[in-house]
Amino acid sequence: MIFIKKIIYTFLTPRWVNIYKNFNRSFVKNDDKKILFYIFSKFWFMPHTYVYKYWHKANISSKHYYREFLALDHNARMLIKKVQKHSSKSSKVLDLGCNIGRHLNELRRQGYNNLYGVDIGKIAIAKSKEIFPNLKKVKTVCSSFEEYLFKTQTNFFDLIYTHGATVELVKPTFPLISQLSRVLINGGYMVFIIDEDGHSYPRFWRYEFKLNNLSIIFKKKINTKTLFVLKKVK
Ligand SMILES: C[S@@+](CC[C@H](N)C(=O)[O-])C[C@H]1O[C@@H](n2cnc3c(N)ncnc32)[C@H](O)[C@@H]1O
Repeated sequence: MIFIKKIIYTFLTPRWVNIYKNFNRSFVKNDDKKILFYIFSKFWFMPHTYVYKYWHKANISSKHYYREFLALDHNARMLIKKVQKHSSKSSKVLDLGCNIGRHLNELRRQGYNNLYGVDIGKIAIAKSKEIFPNLKKVKTVCSSFEEYLFKTQTNFFDLIYTHGATVELVKPTFPLISQLSRVLINGGYMVFIIDEDGHSYPRFWRYEFKLNNLSIIFKKKINTKTLFVLKKVK
């Protein structure tokens, strides 16, 4: 079943880039269109924001409230080591799906001074600078990845990292890997911990990396997840 899903989401899904220009508006405001979003969510080839409301509104009664993402676990520390290895303290570094900002806080503590974070979680982003005062100068934004990347200039970041589940939740109607590659400088790095077979939209991630000039320079299995270091090559 996973294999079939991967074929559908990698090869049989149209990409609708321009629809994502003002994507945030639809999950922030259009509560009244819930049924329409629900119907859209049943068609794999239609962009929709139905599940985005869940993440946007994650509050104390959600199992994904920011308190679940405060501590730096073993995987988070491994990811940070790889980020350090492939960047300098002045590098422009993006945390994709930063939530409350546990990784950003650690990088800031180590002297990184050009950090960015994006997450759809309203409360997590609002609380991040209160919980981690260290993040005052970090440019965190409450947005979907889709709209944020759509609006980011080409060749902007030196390094992008993510600790999933994050990218695995993005509907493949958005050309995520190609947009990430676009905003990364040539010779820049991506550090990903992702579940290649899990979550809503499993894809042939390695194939998509290759297709978008991202060469795998390190990989390590950690239970169901994989830690990747990718380098953008021309
Ligand atoms: C499992 S949590 C991981 C949080 C963080 N990476 C960490 O390890 O502490 C997934 C995060 O991705 C965010 N997220 C999921 N889909 C998103 C999207 N399309 N755009 C922006 N953020 C998204 C959620 O709000 C949530 O904070």
